[in-house]
Amino acid sequence: MSTDSNHSSGGHAVALRAERRWAIFAGALILLMLAVIVYSGLHWAMMPPSRVETIDPSRLQLSGEFVEDNLGTAVEPDGSVVVRFVAQQYSFTPQCLLVPADTPVTIRTTSADVVHGLLVTDTNINTMVVPGYVATLNTRFDKPVDHTMPCHEFCGFGHQAMWAHVKVIDKAAFFEQARQSRRLSCVSR
Ligand code: CUA
Repeated sequence: MSTDSNHSSGGHAVALRAERRWAIFAGALILLMLAVIVYSGLHWAMMPPSRVETIDPSRLQLSGEFVEDNLGTAVEPDGSVVVRFVAQQYSFTPQCLLVPADTPVTIRTTSADVVHGLLVTDTNINTMVVPGYVATLNTRFDKPVDHTMPCHEFCGFGHQAMWAHVKVIDKAAFFEQARQSRRLSCVSR
């Protein structure tokens, strides 16, 4: 805004109009971004991580959800499919995850040591795995194919060798195997 009294009042009015236009533009942008947050929150259930789940990384192997014999894929009492695994320098346990095709799958993972990352090739599955926190992802695999799951966060000298497999199998075959075994994986099979 001009404070120089020598400027014409016309120039002042132009500046005022331009200022108002930009104020409206900025205000509209803020409203648009708020609308996107509300829309994605309500319709896609995408929330900022407010209730972050924490876990003691030094006690993973001793008790709780991530003890070794609880890792792998389980059909929970409510019928949902949950895959649990642990990331550590320089592997995932189990090294091969077995999941059913065309079924909602929940992935739960955490780190036993440093920050790792994971992605499943040809899917949009991608997360950081941070010690002290449980990463949860809800997903669905369309077809029975094999994916690789590399660590994508530099985690030390063995980083480039840290990866696992995700084996997607036919839904009926999966639930048949799940009747035989409480925890499924495709390690050494
Ligand atoms: Cu784990 Cu890189």
